[in-house]
Amino acid sequence: MDKKTIRPPAEMLYRDELNLLREQDQAARPPGWILSPQAVKTFIVGNQDDKGWFAKKGSISRKFYGNDTLVERAIITLLGNRGLLLVGEPGTAKSLLSELLTAAICGDSQLTIQGTAGTTEDQIKYSWNYALLLAQGPSRESLVPGPVYRAMAEGKIVRFEEITRCQPEIQDTLVSLLSDKVLMVPELRGEDVTLQAKKGFNILATANLRDRGVNEMSSALKRRFNFETVLPIADPELEMEIVRKETDRLLSDSGINQAMPEDAMELLITTFRDLREGKTREGATIEKPSTVMSTAEAVAVSFAACLDAHYFGGGKVSGRHISRHMLGTVFKDDPGDAKKLRHYLTVIGKVRAKQGGVWREFYETKAEWESN
Ligand SMILES: Nc1ncnc2c1ncn2[C@@H]1O[C@H](COP(=O)(O)OP(=O)(O)O)[C@@H](O)[C@H]1O
Ligand SMILES: [Mg+2]
Repeated sequence: MDKKTIRPPAEMLYRDELNLLREQDQAARPPGWILSPQAVKTFIVGNQDDKGWFAKKGSISRKFYGNDTLVERAIITLLGNRGLLLVGEPGTAKSLLSELLTAAICGDSQLTIQGTAGTTEDQIKYSWNYALLLAQGPSRESLVPGPVYRAMAEGKIVRFEEITRCQPEIQDTLVSLLSDKVLMVPELRGEDVTLQAKKGFNILATANLRDRGVNEMSSALKRRFNFETVLPIADPELEMEIVRKETDRLLSDSGINQAMPEDAMELLITTFRDLREGKTREGATIEKPSTVMSTAEAVAVSFAACLDAHYFGGGKVSGRHISRHMLGTVFKDDPGDAKKLRHYLTVIGKVRAKQGGVWREFYETKAEWESN
């Protein structure tokens, strides 16, 4: 793997695990798939609970934590005629799951469209090499295939990230693709006008409930997708484990010998969960910030706190480092949120400061927050 790459795609990052699964996989593989559905699931949830089959041959790590039956249903949907739409709050690992599924099913998670308000039909389907187009006219050679075109031609799964950020007309270009599995290229003539999708083709989209949401999606398109809701992690211990694992990975990628201490991690996760739920551990009601207090944001704060401690803060992560980095990560530009967080720090933080340690350090940053 290229050591200079910031974030290699899942099929590169987990190449050894995928090779192992491929060698050991004895179940039937659906047309166009490189692994059986069972092996795809094992790639995502790991084989630590598995007594037979792969377990003896080597270990497969768990990559997505949560509802394993959701993973099964997602795989089944991708085998069928409909697309799969993962919906949920930001930071619930929808993109991660979509990347892992496509890496395991087609060995390629890179056929991806990033939905924005400016996404156009040619970014989805195909565009033209204008020099060749002028010289030769429309032909297969002058056509530049987009992600959907390539997925259909190669029998792969195309990922459509944040689909609901696109204009509804653009979203609707998928309706006929999903129902007929044919892409028309009217500029070409003869046989070339239609591209028939190879077996294995499907669409895996994600949508954040915080954006425009799925309400504006046409009912025609909704009917062509199965929806799966991805929920935030319910168990605090598990959330802590994920944040620790991800922080360690980011730190070791940056070549930094640093770790998040247990007490600082507990402070971070408690704070995030209290604010996310609008209720503290002890049952006091607090105002929820409008911003998302997701696991992914917790990872960002944890990593930044470790870097800060490493470069500027004498090595050990303290409550102060956590507080400082919550400002930039969580506050952003909403003054209302700033107020709610300040309230949490001064009221809840004050009570917990009595136990000393990181909570006291956390509370003592009050003055810094007030100047904001
Ligand atoms: N259930 C989970 N399992 C594993 N990692 C998770 C989970 N929830 C959140 N994470 C972490 O948070 C990140 C979520 O990022 P992402 O997939 O971009 O979320 P989304 O697309 O839902 O906004 C993951 O990369 C991972 O580090
Ligand atoms: Mg995402």
